Amino acid sequence: MAHHITKAVIPAAGLGTRFLPATKAMPKEMLPVVDKPAIQYVVEEAVAAGLHDVLMVTGRNKYALENHFDRVYELEATLERKGDHARLQKVHESTNIADIHYFRQGDPHGLGHAVLQARMHVGEEPFAVLLGDDLIDERDPLLQRMITEQGKRNASIVALLEVEPDQIHLYGAAEFEPTDDPDVVRITGLVEKPSVESAPSNLAVIGRYVLRPEVFQVLEHTDPGMGGEIQLTDALQQMTSAEWTGGVYGLIFRGRRYDTGDKIDYIKAIVQLASERDDLGPELRPWLRQFVASMH
Ligand code: UTP
Repeated sequence: MAHHITKAVIPAAGLGTRFLPATKAMPKEMLPVVDKPAIQYVVEEAVAAGLHDVLMVTGRNKYALENHFDRVYELEATLERKGDHARLQKVHESTNIADIHYFRQGDPHGLGHAVLQARMHVGEEPFAVLLGDDLIDERDPLLQRMITEQGKRNASIVALLEVEPDQIHLYGAAEFEPTDDPDVVRITGLVEKPSVESAPSNLAVIGRYVLRPEVFQVLEHTDPGMGGEIQLTDALQQMTSAEWTGGVYGLIFRGRRYDTGDKIDYIKAIVQLASERDDLGPELRPWLRQFVASMH
C-alpha cells in the first residue's frame, strides 16, 4: 500500500570542518545563502513538497537552529514599533513555516547514524531526508517527483546528478540499470567517493532521499565505513540487493542545484542567486561585469 508521506528529516549535526572558523560555534546549515540560512531553503523545499512535519537532527551547536525557527519577541516588538512590516514578515516566515522537532545526535558518527536517530519519530512510514549542503532551485522541483516515484515503485529513491568524471570522487557513485523511464534508473550498487578509474558511472548521489523505513533496520547493522562513520551510502548499497527493503531507484535530476557544502561552490551559489534576484541583480550584475573585466 502506498503511504502518504508527511515527514522530512534534516540532518544538521555534522561538524562542518570545511567552513571553519565560521562553523566553530554555529552549524554550517546556518550559513547564509544571500540573506537566508541554507537550512531555511531546505525547510521551505520540504514544505513545498507537502512535508510539514520536520525533524532536525542537531549537534552541539543546535541553539542557533532552534532560535531561527522560534519567536524573537524583542526583535519583533522593535520592528512593530517602527512599523517595518516588510522585515517583520521576514522574521515571521521562518517561525510559522512547519511543525519542527529536534533530536540531538550526541556524537556525530556520520550521516547514517544521524538518520538512524529519526527512527522513533518516523515510525513505519516512508520519509524524506534533505541535506542542507545541497540547495535545489525552487523553479526545478525535485522532491515532489521523488515522492511520486516512491509511491509508484514502493522502493527507496535517491536523487542523482550527472557530474564531470573528475568530480565523482566527491560523491557516492551509482551503478545502475535503465528502466522504462529515461529519468529513473534501478540502482544495483553504490560506491562512496570512488576514484575516477573505479567509479561505476558519473551519476552522483545528491542530498535528497525518499526512503522506506526498512532503512533503519539496515542502518542498525551497518558498521562504520569510510572515515570511521556510519555511512548512509553503505546502508543504501545493502538495500540495492535486499528484496525485503524494496530496493533502490535513482531519479536523475536535470535542474539547477547549488552545492553549499564546499567553499568555492558556496561562493558561486551566492553570486548566482544574488545576481538573479530582482532586488539585488540590477546593481550586482553591472558590478560583476566590471569586476571581471578588471581581472587579468
Ligand atoms: P558532511 O559529510 O558534509 O558533513 O555531512 P560535515 O561533517 O558537516 O562537513 P565537513 O565535511 O566537516 O565540512 C552531510 C550532512 O550530514 C550531516 C551534516 O550536518 C550534513 O548536513 N551529518 C553528518 C550529521 O547530521 N551527523 C553526522 O554525524 C555527520
